[in-house]
Amino acid sequence: MNLKCGAASLVIGMQYGDEGKGKLVDVLAEEADLVCRVQGGNNAGHTIWVDGKKIITQLMPSGILQKNCRVAIGAGVVIDPFVLLAEIKKIQALGYEVSPERLHIDCRASVILPYHKLLDQKRELERSKNSEKIGTTGKGVGPAYASRAYREAPRMAEISNPTQFKNWLDAQPHLKEGLDAQVLNEFFEVAAELLPYIKDVAVIANNCLSQGGKLLLEGAQGAMLDVSFGTYPFVTSSNLISGSCAGGLGIPPWKVTKIIGVIKAYSTRVGNGPYPAELSDPLASELRTRGNEFGSVTGRPRSVGWLDLVALRYLSIINGMTGLAIMKADVLAGFDRVGMITAYKDKRTNKNREDYPMTIQDWENVEPIVEFVEGWSYVMKENKVHKNYVQFLKKIENFIGVPSIYISAGAERSAGLWL
Ligand code: GDP
Ligand code: IMO
Ligand code: MG
Repeated sequence: MNLKCGAASLVIGMQYGDEGKGKLVDVLAEEADLVCRVQGGNNAGHTIWVDGKKIITQLMPSGILQKNCRVAIGAGVVIDPFVLLAEIKKIQALGYEVSPERLHIDCRASVILPYHKLLDQKRELERSKNSEKIGTTGKGVGPAYASRAYREAPRMAEISNPTQFKNWLDAQPHLKEGLDAQVLNEFFEVAAELLPYIKDVAVIANNCLSQGGKLLLEGAQGAMLDVSFGTYPFVTSSNLISGSCAGGLGIPPWKVTKIIGVIKAYSTRVGNGPYPAELSDPLASELRTRGNEFGSVTGRPRSVGWLDLVALRYLSIINGMTGLAIMKADVLAGFDRVGMITAYKDKRTNKNREDYPMTIQDWENVEPIVEFVEGWSYVMKENKVHKNYVQFLKKIENFIGVPSIYISAGAERSAGLWL
């Protein structure tokens, strides 16, 4: 694909996360000048395979593995400084340049403190007593966003100066939980190491655009986990949809001219919450094993299901995708038939519906109506796409009104085709 000069392109997940955003961003980053994370935190796990080696990025933008581009973490991200520093070191140890010239961290990004992680775990324990556990990643992401909304969370700017940070904590002593003298000292050491990377990323991104550079925004999670438009309350704590991504970086929204929605050819969900598409065993186990559907961050087995076209149609209206990247169709190769959800049946009324459920009760009361297409024995050979897979793509395009622009048929960089 050609990224546009002086404009931004956005890669966002259209399901419940783990669609393969990391792979796509890595592929696109070859021609990008600056790749930026704009929301989320280290609840994200983006897997990239380079020369047979698997690398998982959490806070680091996935462009870091393409040597010609710079990367940045925008103001909309919540950062656990310990995790970020460890990730910098891990990637440096693999032989990639991670320097203050190449990685920029926004001074306005909020910080995840030990307090936020403890609170995340405590809230989950409380919720589990009423079977309302969200199944968070336990990284403190939700409490850190809540703390930001309360205007109490320190930002990268505030932790860069030990006196300032101590004063900040003294003014809000509850934030000191889990920060004993030793951990606080370690915190200062980590902050000092990160200091050279801390900048005004909004200025860097806008300069890149005004100089004709190619900007790539890397979304985390997926639209069905969006705090406003997902299966609330079983969602993450940030807005993920396209309209919010420019705000997580600080660029004008009209500079985002390409919006690539990433979907798996089937669906997965990790954590709790309604999932009408979910399949049961033995098909579910087979799909999970074939697709290696275990969480990149927590290792939890992902629930699996057919592709939900009803949800995708709604999300395409909200997100305005200009193209679809469809991943992992190779996992379905060999299945006699492949399902797609084209309507729901409301168990309360026994009637079919094609709208996107509004409340958790609605979600819990719909069951999928599945249409099947003929399966494919391979996705593509010598750049020729299997005819049954073409039919599958056409069905998606017609249903949701967005063209597919990229198909991926393997985790490696080379296993994909721009259409
Ligand atoms: P992300 O969070 O959206 O970046 O996705 P994850 O990295 O959490 O999960 C996607 C998984 O699918 C990773 O293990 C990828 O290596 C893998 N993957 C990506 N694209 C493909 C593909 O087309 N085929 C196969 N078989 N695996 C893929
Ligand atoms: P990537 O970027 C899949 C899910 C968690 C849980 C819910 C809330 O790799 O696609 P949180 O820790 O955010 O408060 O958890 O959101 N979740 C993800 N699921 N992929 C992710 O990121 C996720 N990030 C959060 O499992 O259900
Ligand atoms: Mg992931």
